[in-house]
Amino acid sequence: MYSRKTLWLFLAILSLKVTITLASDPDPVQDFCIPNPTFASIKTPHHTILPCKNSTEATTDDFVFSGMKAAGNFSDIGLAVVSATPTNFPGLNTLGMSFTRADIEVGGINSPHFHPRATELVHVVQGKVYAGFVDSSNRVFDRMLERGEVMVFPRGLMHFLMNVGDEPATLFGSFNSQNPGMQKIPSAVFGSGIDEELLQKAFGLSSKQIGTMRRKFDPKQAR
Ligand SMILES: *[C@@H]1O[C@H](CO)[C@@H](O)[C@H](O)[C@H]1NC(C)=O
Ligand SMILES: *[C@@H]1O[C@H](CO)[C@@H](O)[C@H](O)[C@H]1NC(C)=O
Repeated sequence: MYSRKTLWLFLAILSLKVTITLASDPDPVQDFCIPNPTFASIKTPHHTILPCKNSTEATTDDFVFSGMKAAGNFSDIGLAVVSATPTNFPGLNTLGMSFTRADIEVGGINSPHFHPRATELVHVVQGKVYAGFVDSSNRVFDRMLERGEVMVFPRGLMHFLMNVGDEPATLFGSFNSQNPGMQKIPSAVFGSGIDEELLQKAFGLSSKQIGTMRRKFDPKQAR
C-alpha cells in the first residue's frame, strides 16, 4: 500500500513528465540532422520532418549562420527581423531551438504577437525598449528594458516591443522550438478574412472602420 502522500507525489511527477513531453520539440535521435535538400520533406499532422544528409557530408558551414551581422530590412512599423531557422541555418534542424535578430527604429514597434510553440528569451544588446507580455487573465507584465537586460515571454502568450530610446535598438531572441510559429494579433484579426459582421459585433466598430482596419492589416503587407 502506498501512502496518500506518496501517491500524490507520484501523480505530480507523472503530470510534470507528461507536460514536459508535450511542451517541446521531439528529442533528437542522432547527433545532428542536416536536411538533405534533394529529399522532399515529410509532413505529419504535427510537424514537418526534413530527411537528414549522411552525417559524413555535414560541414562546419552547416553549423554557422552569418546572416545576423547586420540588421534586416525595415518594415513600415520600423521593425527589421532576421530569423535563423533550419531552412536557412541547416545545423539547427532537430535541435529544438531557433534564433532571431530584431532591430527597431526610434519609435518603432514589434506589434502584439505570440509564438504558439515556443517560449522566447529576448536580450537587448543596444537601445532602450518598452517590452511586455499579457497572461491568460489579461494581466500585463511590462518594463522599460535597458541594454544588457533579458526578458522571457512564456510560450503562447502575447507580447510586444517598442523602441522608447533615442537610438536604434537591437535585440536577439532565442526560442525553444526550431519552428516557434508566429501569429500577429492585428493581422490575425483584421487581415485573415473573418466575417465582417462578427468583427463589427466583437469590436463595436462600424463597417467603414472595419474596412479601414482590413486595408491596414491586409496580409500582403505582413506586419
Ligand atoms: C554515409 O557515408 C559513408 C561514407 O561514404 C558510408 O560508408 C555510409 O554507409 C553512409 N551511411 C548511410 C546511412 O548511407
Ligand atoms: C532585404 O531586401 C533585399 C532586396 O529586396 C533582399 O535581397 C535581402 O535578402 C533582404 N534582406 C533580408 C535580411 O531579408
